[in-house]
This record gives sequence, structure tokens and C-alpha cells, in this order.
Amino acid sequence: MKSIVILVSGRGSNLQAIHQRCVEQGWPARVVAVLSNRPDAAGLAYAAAHGIATQVVDHTAFAERAEFDAALAQAIDRFEPDLLVLAGFMRILGAAFVQRYEGRLLNIHPSLLPSFTGLHTHRRALAAGCKAVGATVHLVTAELDHGPIVMQSVVPVRPGDDEHTLAARVLATEHVIYPQSVRWFVEGKLRLQDGLALQTEDASQVLI
Ligand code: GRF
Repeated sequence: MKSIVILVSGRGSNLQAIHQRCVEQGWPARVVAVLSNRPDAAGLAYAAAHGIATQVVDHTAFAERAEFDAALAQAIDRFEPDLLVLAGFMRILGAAFVQRYEGRLLNIHPSLLPSFTGLHTHRRALAAGCKAVGATVHLVTAELDHGPIVMQSVVPVRPGDDEHTLAARVLATEHVIYPQSVRWFVEGKLRLQDGLALQTEDASQVLI
């Protein structure tokens, strides 16, 4: 059994999707802990209600980012994760932290990377006149919203869309590609070759 630790800052809908698929589909894995930098994150309540260990490492208690990163890593390592999953975790993690979990650190970003790294992706995609948008699951490297791409989803931009309708359409696809990517990881179906993430079966795009 592989151990998964999930980091959240808010709602936690991706955490829920991953946990539910893990249980329903009987993955060789268990979500052993959910950690958050915010005590009020709804994802913590979901985890507690499902018997998953929770812990808060409040970033406001630390003057330096490196101190926060170190405290977070210490909290994570107690659970000895095989895989660390960032699911709406809204803190930038330093190079030392990323290096510590290299190769077992996944993130989801609500854009078709490498376009629109950073915040307000849907607003920026609309302003750019994009006709299609999506989400990307990737292995994390020290550069923000970069790293080997595991899976992407693509949805159309429709007339009358605003950033909220677009975010909702993309989020529904996140709940498909993130669990699938985590499943590939825990089943040993992902490998890195020449800086690219390859998987041994299925398609790595979802067109919706
Ligand atoms: C998602 O849109 C994810 O792509 C982004 O933050 C949001 C988190 O949503 N990184 P949730 O907390 O999983 O509901």
C-alpha cells in the first residue's frame, strides 16, 4: 500500500475526488493525512469526517518562508508519504522543499500549461480570447507551475462564459484527471524519461 499525503488550502474538492476514487476503486493506496496552511480550510473538515488524520501548519506563524517549509516538511514526514499531492495548496514552496519530495510531488493547475502559470488563469484566458481552456496535472519542479506534465483536460470556451462558468467547467474535469493521475502514480504506471512524464497505458488527455 502506498501512502498519500494531500495538502490543501481551501475547499478541497480535488482532495474529495481523489479520496473517493481511491476508496471506490480500491487503489493500492491510502490517503493517510490531509495538511493545511489554513485552519479554516473546508478540506480539513472533509478529512476529519472520513477518519483521515489532519494537521494545520499555519503559515502566518512563521516570519520566513524557509521556516514554514521546514515545519511543513517535518509534519509531512511523520506520515512517511510515497506521494505528496498539492490540491489547491495556495503557498509557493521553496526549492529545498520541492527537492526533498522530487519525483513524488504532484500538483494540479487550472490552465493548459505552459500557458497561464500563476493566478486568475480563467480571467486571463478569456481576456486572451482563448477558444479552449483546461487543467494540467504535473510533477512539481522548483519553477512555479512547471514540471513534467502527467495529464491535461480541455474544454471549450462558450459564448457568454465568465471566469466563474469557465472555472466550474474546468473544475469538473480536474476531478477526472487528478484522481486518474494519482492512480497511475500509486500503481507504478508513471515514469520519467528525458524530463517528460510517461505513462504505460491509456490516453493522457481528456477532451470534454
Ligand atoms: C483548483 O482549481 C486547482 O486547480 C487549483 O486550486 C483549485 C482548488 O480547488 N490549484 P479545490 O480546493 O480542490 O476544490
